[in-house]
Amino acid sequence: MSRYLVHPGGQIKGRFPVPGDKSISHRAIILGALAEGVTEIEGLLEGADVLATIAAFRAMGVGIEGPDNGHLRIQGVGLHGLRAPAAPLDCGNSGTAMRLLAGVLAGQAFPSTLIGDASLQRRPMGRVLNPLRAMGAEITAREGRAPLHIHGEPLHGINYALPVASAQVKSAVLLAGLYADGQTCVTEPAPTRDHSERMLQGFGYQVERQGPRACLRSGGQLRGQSLQVPGDISSAAFFLLGASIAPGSDLTLEGVGINPTRTGIIEILTRMGARIDLTALREVGGEPVADIRVRYAPLQGVVIPPRLVPLAIDEFPALFIAAACAKGQTVVTGAEELRVKESDRIAVMASGLRAMGVTVEERADGAVIHGSPLLGGRINSHGDHRIAMAFAMAALVARSDIEILDCANVATSFPNFPVLAHQSGLLLAVVGA
Ligand code: S3P
Repeated sequence: MSRYLVHPGGQIKGRFPVPGDKSISHRAIILGALAEGVTEIEGLLEGADVLATIAAFRAMGVGIEGPDNGHLRIQGVGLHGLRAPAAPLDCGNSGTAMRLLAGVLAGQAFPSTLIGDASLQRRPMGRVLNPLRAMGAEITAREGRAPLHIHGEPLHGINYALPVASAQVKSAVLLAGLYADGQTCVTEPAPTRDHSERMLQGFGYQVERQGPRACLRSGGQLRGQSLQVPGDISSAAFFLLGASIAPGSDLTLEGVGINPTRTGIIEILTRMGARIDLTALREVGGEPVADIRVRYAPLQGVVIPPRLVPLAIDEFPALFIAAACAKGQTVVTGAEELRVKESDRIAVMASGLRAMGVTVEERADGAVIHGSPLLGGRINSHGDHRIAMAFAMAALVARSDIEILDCANVATSFPNFPVLAHQSGLLLAVVGA
């Protein structure tokens, strides 16, 4: 089982792009497969999660060439051109693949099964099953968890008020809405990433957006596109963290997506005193993008406003480390969703930080983290990619070695993290296969 051994010290320096955005990569494959004509994607994330989505569409008869250096060519089959897969579709570790595919598959005229790894089988799927069933889908699951057996049924549009702020659920309902009679609307309790709405429009499909509500009608067509995937701010986050905490650091990350539904990490780190500058603002693939320069600056503990939680939902492992390195205490509330990510990120981060000598008060919906010097130690990432990468960066300011167990899943979102981290100054070695 692969683990990281990270020596203390170092600085983060350099200028490089981060890999393609995971959320946008999944959506580009899904819409490209369902579009009429060819879709060419550049800058695709070649992580295991995204490869699972590619494999699922290949298994449903979609011709896909690549990925080759971030390039993917999809021969779209149109909204009604998918074929029944011969075997269950394996989503691996990816909640996005499973939830978005559930939305697409609910509208197909054939039955299908979605499976995933041990982590994905523990994650709640009721949140997508409920609205899809309300639209007329027949789906069986094991106590709201995968495997999901989906029987294609005619769907009808609904008005759905999301009980949790979840872009995956919003996207699943909108994708099912492409197949549902009449109009489908989703209303979210707080803004979540809006890549699906943007990309549907980019593929020529009309989506009406009014404040927290997005609606579409069936009967339209998606038109194949050429699109570029921006760099993933959720991958950039580990480098924003590392350069912020390690004295002498100065790093520029090129072409990072700065969609306002994703920039909570920048706002929170900046409130903590981080020195982050955005330059070369531009638009790529219908998404705002910038180069991000980050230099070392001493951090202060903050109370994180709950409204920022969905805008930084994947960045809390990095933020917990930033909080441990800050002066004073940092309070996280309204973040109970962290308990149902690839791991229980509140519990796993709290226990890892405690192993390094940090005081953390765990709460049901967050934590209070008391900034203090970091010792070294052995951390169990519980197979969670973002936990592994966050603790790797903590070594920059630790007193002794940090050993991080169970790191293979870093390849789900950031396969070249160890190489980039090492090149930019982190004293990291990968041990084991
Ligand atoms: C994602 C949405 C978020 C995020 C996940 C990717 C997406 O999940 O945590 O990593 O691509 O839509 P929720 O929508 O469940 O919060």
